[in-house]
Amino acid sequence: MSRKMKWQSGGVAKWRNGPVPHRRILPFPPVAALVATLLVTTGLPLAGCRGDRSDNPPRQFFPDMDDQPRWKAQDRSEFFADGRTMRQPPQGAVAFGRSPVVADEPWAATYTLQRAQLLKDDARVYRGVDDSGNPLTTIPVEVTTALLDRGQNRFDIYCAACHGIKGDGKGLVGQTWSYPLPSFHDERFLPGGASGAEGHIFDVALHGFVGPTGRQLMPGYAHALTEHDAWAIVAYIRALQRANRAAIQDVPDSERTQLQGAPRPAPAAEGGS
Ligand code: HEC
Repeated sequence: MSRKMKWQSGGVAKWRNGPVPHRRILPFPPVAALVATLLVTTGLPLAGCRGDRSDNPPRQFFPDMDDQPRWKAQDRSEFFADGRTMRQPPQGAVAFGRSPVVADEPWAATYTLQRAQLLKDDARVYRGVDDSGNPLTTIPVEVTTALLDRGQNRFDIYCAACHGIKGDGKGLVGQTWSYPLPSFHDERFLPGGASGAEGHIFDVALHGFVGPTGRQLMPGYAHALTEHDAWAIVAYIRALQRANRAAIQDVPDSERTQLQGAPRPAPAAEGGS
């Protein structure tokens, strides 16, 4: 008797439309029974080995994986003359990082960046200098809104305490400094200024600033910032400088009303002021 017929003979004639009737067939379908039998006959003898004590050598299914020639960290080596198993990488060895991702798609960006950060083989991006070793006068990464947002976030955390939220040198810590801190809006920090090269600001952010007498006047923040963060800060300082010199005409119409204080009275009522 087929399974379907048996179900029908159980007295629920219209089970296809109504609730599924209580199953009154074998406890397992035949396939499950077969699998169970196989497990018992083949699996049990193996499982029986577990926990048994024996003086015989253990069974090895992949002996070449169990018994590999290898050294443990800090072990003594008979092979190397200096007796050390832990070797210095040969000169010029390149860090082994993520393999290059050959995809110019958004999902690959993280991997590409991780690899670049590991290798740090682009002097412009990672040291802020050009081929002759001079500080760059451009920002070598793409300046996007996301980069500026990141720059604002890092600047406010790591720089503003001394240099001020607007970069004018009047941060809470800056005000208590033994001498007035310079403002980033001084001519010398603007593009083309004596201390205004992008590569210089990048370098100061990461490694601090050493004055002419050789004294470290500002600590570096390389422990807290990646190179990309440092470029983000440089871009944000440029934005602060630009904003500081902006006229109301630079503000798009849509934003101007808000800046000048909303709601704005109708021009006629204001009497032209
Ligand atoms: C603890 C206070 C402090 C913090 C925080 C700080 N600075 Fe400075 N910064 C200084 C001092 C002090 C000087 C030196 C001023 C001087 O004597 O010319 C300086 C100088 C500079 C200069 C000018 C270097 C030059 O060529 O004259 C730059 C650019 C600069 N800081 C960038 C940054 C950036 C970017 C950050 C955040 C990552 C930062 N600073 C965080 C204290 C600080």
